[in-house]
Amino acid sequence: MYKKIFSHVGKYKKYAILAPITITGEVVMEVLIPLVMAQIINNGILEGNIGYVVKMGLLMILMATVSLFFGAVAGRFAAVASVGFAKNLRSSLFKKVQDFSFSNIDKFSTASLLTRLTTDINNTQNAFMMIIRTAFRAPIMLVFALVMTIRINPKLSTVFLVVVPVLAIAIILVLTNAHPRFLKMLTKYDAMNSSVQENLVGIRVVKAFVREDHEKKDFEKTADGVRKAQVFAEKLIILVSPFMQMCIYTCIVAILWFGGKMAINGDMEIGYLASFITYVTQILMSLMMLSMIFMMIIISRASIERICEVLDEEPDIKDSEKSSAEFADGSIIFENVNFSYFKDKNNLALENINLKINSGETIGIIGGTGSSKTTLVQLIPRLYDTTEGNVIVGGNNVKDYSIEALRSEVAMVLQKNVLFSGTIKENLLWGDENATDEEIYDACKSACAHDFIMSFPDGYETNLGQGGVNVSGGQKQRLCIARALIKKPRIIILDDSTSAVDTATDSSIRKAFREKLADTTTLIIAQRISSVKDADRIIVMDDGKIDGIGTHDELLANNTIYREVYESQQKGAED
Ligand SMILES: Nc1ncnc2c1ncn2[C@@H]1O[C@H](COP(=O)(O)OP(=O)(O)O)[C@@H](O)[C@H]1O
Ligand SMILES: [Mg+2]
Repeated sequence: MYKKIFSHVGKYKKYAILAPITITGEVVMEVLIPLVMAQIINNGILEGNIGYVVKMGLLMILMATVSLFFGAVAGRFAAVASVGFAKNLRSSLFKKVQDFSFSNIDKFSTASLLTRLTTDINNTQNAFMMIIRTAFRAPIMLVFALVMTIRINPKLSTVFLVVVPVLAIAIILVLTNAHPRFLKMLTKYDAMNSSVQENLVGIRVVKAFVREDHEKKDFEKTADGVRKAQVFAEKLIILVSPFMQMCIYTCIVAILWFGGKMAINGDMEIGYLASFITYVTQILMSLMMLSMIFMMIIISRASIERICEVLDEEPDIKDSEKSSAEFADGSIIFENVNFSYFKDKNNLALENINLKINSGETIGIIGGTGSSKTTLVQLIPRLYDTTEGNVIVGGNNVKDYSIEALRSEVAMVLQKNVLFSGTIKENLLWGDENATDEEIYDACKSACAHDFIMSFPDGYETNLGQGGVNVSGGQKQRLCIARALIKKPRIIILDDSTSAVDTATDSSIRKAFREKLADTTTLIIAQRISSVKDADRIIVMDDGKIDGIGTHDELLANNTIYREVYESQQKGAED
């Protein structure tokens, strides 16, 4: 897991290596300074030799400057390496997510992917920086300072035999308990991001229903959840520092006590006692740093696990080896298709679907909300794979096409569609980046979008704003239809794509489709009977099953659901 993550350091590796090397320079100086100090006290101050004090003092300043220089350079290297590492990791994660199918995204949820791309990567970056800055510094300092203290006074060094094990046990106890707490904290982050995301995307709905107060309260709760989880996790971590301080001071007191006695008895020079205390501080500080590293590893382990989960996720819809099949026509066949969003045969969203649609046919699909209309058509461009059975499009199993080939022939206007920031024209070119102006105008005319686009002062160059906020719902739908038409697909699927369009426009779109797209297989999901009435055949969906197929007149005569829907809409129209 760590290997996979750290392979992302990539070309920043040289900085990650240079950092510890320069840090070693810094540490060596830091460790030598107390020794010089001992000399100054013993041979300079106590002997009254001012010349010696000045000479050694200058040496000490020089050493401090060198140490400072190395420290600064090391800090820079570590920063460059860790920021570069985070960048690489982030792009790699983003690329992976781009390859995800709908069901991969369902599995993680958009919000959790967001947390992983932001918070989790930040945690990992911080840990990485910490590790390259201290992973060498702490042990080198520890060893050096320990050697020095033993050389100065082995008897006094036995103090460590008591303090170090106590400290080690305490740190281990804290760290083992912290991991699950941090994991929990991160799931709370997911929940908060999910709440933020949903609210920002749906801010207009929130306002329309005057739900601001309710949403504020809700958010307050989620944010508080994060706070609690964080406090719960940090509570453990903050224990380390005071405990550490206690150990340091206990040590110092003990050394002053025993060392002082030795000095008074003449067993130890005063200057060495002073440097001994400095070394003790260094030893305990490096122990503290080591424990901080462990802590960072613990905190980041939860994040690294979550990042790896995304990196390891197999996009479940991939091009197969043979992906070379060619489209013969625009026919669609469903053979004994069962489908579950959860790959669970006892929880089917589509059950036993058998269906044959001829090339060039216009098919209407009608059914209550939740009757699996969207689910049915999503299998055609292979947004999801069937759980059982086959979907055959253009003469081949959908799995035998490359995804790109399949989706360029099957255009689907999604129910929840989005436009992106940029001009109208830029958005339309998503359909086919090489489309000529002529082709664009043609598609827009068929989708009844040309006229309203031309009514804007900037026409096709009108800027849409993020998510296409500058156009009305019906206009957006028509732009989405035009975008799909520009692909010149063999099969076009409109999932409730004219719901926000008035009936007159709806009917002229259908007329244009009939005239200009006679050879294109067209599937129209709609709520209004009037939208599907003229279709060659109409499919009535009910609770994941096909309840009936036929022309408007046949269904009116034989299908209860269809007749009831028709009658209620007729009544509505008469009222
Ligand atoms: N991404 C999803 N994950 C899990 N269940 C889903 C998902 N999308 C839809 N469903 C469920 O599948 C059923 C059919 O949904 P859908 O095909 O969207 O219905 P329709 O388009 O007819 O309104 C519903 O019960 C819905 O809750
Ligand atoms: Mg739907």
